[in-house]
Amino acid sequence: MISSISSAGNSTGTRAFRSSFLHCVSDPVDNAGDQGWLYLEDGLLLIRDGKVEMLDHADSVLPQLSDDIPVEDYRGKLIVPGFVDTHIHYPQTDMIASHGEQLLDWLEKYTFPTERRFADVNYANDVAEFFTDELIRNGTTSALVLGTVHQHSVDAIFNSALRYNLRLVAGKVLMDRNCPDDLRDSPDIAYTESKALIERWHGQSRLSYAITPRFAPTSTDAQLVKMGQLAQEHPDVFVHTHVAENTSEVDWVKQLFPKSRSYLDVYDQFGLLRDRAVLAHCIYLDEPDRMRLAGSGAAMSFCPTSNLFLGSGLFDFSAAKDCNARVGLGTDVGAGTSFNMLQTLAEAYKVAQLAGRPMSAHELLYLATLGSAKSLYLDDKIGNFEQNKEADFVVLDWAATELLKRRSDAANDIAEKFFAMVMLGDDRAVFATHIMGNCVYTRD
Ligand code: GUN
Ligand code: ZN
Repeated sequence: MISSISSAGNSTGTRAFRSSFLHCVSDPVDNAGDQGWLYLEDGLLLIRDGKVEMLDHADSVLPQLSDDIPVEDYRGKLIVPGFVDTHIHYPQTDMIASHGEQLLDWLEKYTFPTERRFADVNYANDVAEFFTDELIRNGTTSALVLGTVHQHSVDAIFNSALRYNLRLVAGKVLMDRNCPDDLRDSPDIAYTESKALIERWHGQSRLSYAITPRFAPTSTDAQLVKMGQLAQEHPDVFVHTHVAENTSEVDWVKQLFPKSRSYLDVYDQFGLLRDRAVLAHCIYLDEPDRMRLAGSGAAMSFCPTSNLFLGSGLFDFSAAKDCNARVGLGTDVGAGTSFNMLQTLAEAYKVAQLAGRPMSAHELLYLATLGSAKSLYLDDKIGNFEQNKEADFVVLDWAATELLKRRSDAANDIAEKFFAMVMLGDDRAVFATHIMGNCVYTRD
């Protein structure tokens, strides 16, 4: 027990926030009894040099707090950890909500023409700035992001992330077949450019690199071999790709890789299934695939708005949890229809509900915060308010809309109230976003 809390001679380095707080401390399904979250109706979060010093009841901390530590007052609001988006394409910002096609035609008709525009570095910088602004406007403080095949697209997104000190993982998209000529690299270019980007960015500030083959159909065996080699040379970098999203895509992969047992097995054979590998969609996996994915240390990214928008199919949340896989939430903009993680959670809930397995409020918060952090092997740094974690948080406004206010006022407990926030909330509910304690966005 500390007897007093002082600013240690550095008043700018120590800050306090008073509000209601809600955060997950464990996976709620592992914890049927206590549900895995902590709620403080009147809490005080103390931050030192951008990291959590403590979170406790305000009435027990305030008497110990020295006068020179400012207390920022968010009473009446709810503070939760910053959202962690485990799959998003920044270059697809300008093509979100493109009508009518399923995956493979959607790529040809909308995606490749849009990604071509990133040959222009000024366009890349402009989109990257808008994109990072949109992340913080929606309370997302960490994300795993795809660039385009252009090396400078990755410089653009990392430079934009640095403006806010976002925790961002990103990579250059790799494609050496089945794509337009001007979006094609080669096994050697993919290797050389990815390696240069790793050396330039990985571990700088809060940034990390992801080796990013787009998906199996756009890489030759030779390119996948090279990417496996690069992954082996850099065990601490991420691997990021798509798998088993759409039935025509799955059929195509069968033709392209006849020797592989399954689509997932293609990545496995090239050494791309491992810790820090994140695979988006994972809809058409069988039981051996799920067991292998979970056992490899890789993670699934559940992208409900995208899966519904492209008519891809329904992610089996129960099966994913049953095999103990790491599961995170992804907006998958621009196939996904929102940057907002509350809206994305609401669609995740509905997809699970279709399978007769309604997710609890606790599972929803976990999926967008600590669970996603765990998928990225970043749960020692972000995802909740445990001591020494980076103090990224979102201030949510129960009164963002008349309906949300009325429904949350009628709630009997925090689980019911937070569930209403998920179902009815959107970017209007994000009152402020803080990154390592610093306010980077306020709504009003
Ligand atoms: N599979 C390969 N590329 C993409 C992409 O850009 N978006 C989605 N949703 N799936 C993909
Ligand atoms: Zn995607």
